[in-house]
Amino acid sequence: MAGAPRTVLISGCSSGIGLELAVRLALDPRQRYQVVATMRDLGKKGALEAAAGEALGKTLTVAQLDVCSDESVVQCLSSIQGEEVDVLVNNAGVGLVGPLEGLSIATMQNVFDTNFFGAVRLVKAVLPSMKRRRQGHIVVVSSVMGLQGVMFNEVYAASKFALEGFFESLAIQLLQFNIFITLVEPGPVATDFEGKLLEQVSRAEFPGTDADTLCYFRDIYLPASREIFRSVGQRPQDVAQAIVKVIGSARPPLRRQTNARYTLLTALKAADPSGRLYVRIAHGLLFRWPRLLDLCLRFLACGCPGTRVWPR
Ligand SMILES: NC(=O)c1ccc[n+]([C@@H]2O[C@H](COP(=O)([O-])OP(=O)(O)OC[C@H]3O[C@@H](n4cnc5c(N)ncnc54)[C@H](OP(=O)(O)O)[C@@H]3O)[C@@H](O)[C@H]2O)c1
Repeated sequence: MAGAPRTVLISGCSSGIGLELAVRLALDPRQRYQVVATMRDLGKKGALEAAAGEALGKTLTVAQLDVCSDESVVQCLSSIQGEEVDVLVNNAGVGLVGPLEGLSIATMQNVFDTNFFGAVRLVKAVLPSMKRRRQGHIVVVSSVMGLQGVMFNEVYAASKFALEGFFESLAIQLLQFNIFITLVEPGPVATDFEGKLLEQVSRAEFPGTDADTLCYFRDIYLPASREIFRSVGQRPQDVAQAIVKVIGSARPPLRRQTNARYTLLTALKAADPSGRLYVRIAHGLLFRWPRLLDLCLRFLACGCPGTRVWPR
């Protein structure tokens, strides 16, 4: 006989990966999940509610949660019976691109407050109950940028690297409590994320940045980034599907990349622990051999190297 449904709390469900994941879990044909889909601004719940359809109010409830606020976390958890979360998905996140010299420390701190401390805040809140019950699964939407740095994404990548170090460390202790951690590492995903970044960039002037760096950012990085999203980007549904598989697994892995096309790049780092290979190839493709970059992206876009989602 099937057991009681597992309570899954997901942050950042107003759009993108969080929205798709919440709906997929809520519509699980075996009704294995009771989903608490959260967002910081309930004024944005329309798209989620429409996508949830008949699951709304049955296997899916919508709740307010700002991951940057202790008070909001306490309030959200108190709305869950016994405050017992079986699966926590730390999905809420913000991006930041641009030349470092033109970004304020406050802007950078906001990225860490959301991407890193937001996840830490939620984990601190759910851990006591998970430890008491000796069961739980914490999923973290990290990024391939949690594994390798990308030009002009220094602060965003640093926030994801921080998540990787934090959760890899925590995973060792938590195994003793039968609590699993999974860092999900998508490559580029076609959500509002990129649009929000491009809008932020179009408004920013990056004061204090020298002309060469600004030119590299606008004339080399931005077109290459757009092309990478276009050619190797996944759909949020694909990433959500990979997370559903991880949540349903009896022994979830610590790391799961979702985009087989992108693993070619992350493999460079593993191939040369000195780091020279990755930095030189990334530099060469962007600054010296742009036609080779174009060819590589065409090759990846044609689907020759493999499947989009890993595993299928
Ligand atoms: N898209 C990509 O290329 C990509 C690649 C790798 C990893 N990721 C990661 O995937 C996750 C989801 O991003 P996405 O692509 O689905 O982008 P998205 O559509 O922009 O979703 C981000 C979500 O995070 C929410 N959020 C931001 N700050 C929050 C806060 N303080 N409290 C609660 N929620 C907050 C946003 O809410 P609002 O609507 O209120 O802003 C939104 O619901 C992020 O962690 C991102 O870093 C994305």
